[in-house]
Amino acid sequence: MIPFLDLNEVNAPYLHAIEEASLRVIRSGWYILGNELKAFEESFATYCHVAHCVGVANGLDAITLILMAYGFPEESEIIVPANTYIASVLPVAYLGFKPIFVEPDPATMLLDPDKIAEKITSKTRAIITVDLYGRSCEMEPVMALARTYGLKVITDAAQAHGAIYKNKKAGSIADATAFSFYPTKNLGALGDAGAVTTADEALAEKIRFLRNYGSKVRYKNDYQGVNSRMDEIQAAILNVKLPFLDPENDRRRRIAARYLSEINVKDLVFPPADRIEDDAWHLFVVRHPDRSKLIAHLDAHGIQTNVHYPLPIHKQQAFLEYRDLKLPVTEKIHDEAISLPLNAVLTDEEVTYIIQTVNHFDCQQ
Ligand SMILES: Cc1ncc(COP(=O)(O)O)c(C=O)c1O
Repeated sequence: MIPFLDLNEVNAPYLHAIEEASLRVIRSGWYILGNELKAFEESFATYCHVAHCVGVANGLDAITLILMAYGFPEESEIIVPANTYIASVLPVAYLGFKPIFVEPDPATMLLDPDKIAEKITSKTRAIITVDLYGRSCEMEPVMALARTYGLKVITDAAQAHGAIYKNKKAGSIADATAFSFYPTKNLGALGDAGAVTTADEALAEKIRFLRNYGSKVRYKNDYQGVNSRMDEIQAAILNVKLPFLDPENDRRRRIAARYLSEINVKDLVFPPADRIEDDAWHLFVVRHPDRSKLIAHLDAHGIQTNVHYPLPIHKQQAFLEYRDLKLPVTEKIHDEAISLPLNAVLTDEEVTYIIQTVNHFDCQQ
């Protein structure tokens, strides 16, 4: 069986260094907000070509803390992509803001910049772009719109460590960017972890306080903050793995390039191939009108696939009030999407086998 993703294999090359780093933290007696996190924040900011990085507990909190730090008024409207993982939108809803869903461009499956302006009202305060599947959103028109209307741009780059847009790294483009280091991500911890990057010093400072109960000085609280700190062991592990993010992303790019040029199946819709060397290829999401048949075919031949994602946010029980929204592009993507295995530990032979097996699907129909 070729698993969709085997985390033991992903971490195997780094295991010795991870064990040493973890032991160093365990023996140090300092577990929260220490030197490991400080070092990771500095290196990840440098990696993203941005002035500030603040380590937090997970990607969801990174988005939440950015929204909290901006302090938008109640009932603010926040533009969000309709096609994304629910974590991009949950913080908007539970902070009491209104998510305004915008359809994706069917070719990229990412927020369509041409559909944003018609949704902007006097209550709009921010646009959340999501670099879904590892591809940076079309940021130039989004930033231009935001400047015209005085809006903040927040990017959810949970799936896009190392992605590049017009020579700029994810994390350095929006006003603030949220990252997740959930274990399956391109840069994954061995537990939960996340970060915010920004060029805005005041925002970074506020998020540093907000993640620690809103406290600047111990037992003195300037804000009603939360407890959302990246712990020292996760930071130490990320310090081990960060130098290997670029080579791993390059391996993903080689595999994506092979899938794009060698898979040839009728009715199979591919992800865009115009930025193979810039996208981070967290996922390789294809679409097929008979998804379940293709999944069954691959499964029968020992290839595990995944669906990102089976049910759009506006059809989820958690967002019942949006269930009558008509978002046909998003709904079609959710009906047809299949993620093929794509990760840095797939061998050339496995990639060849996946390509041959997908191509064989046509003969089965
Ligand atoms: C697009 C997206 N946004 C946000 C998150 C939330 O990250 P986390 O699981 O670290 O909270 C994830 C990952 O789970 C994600 O894929």
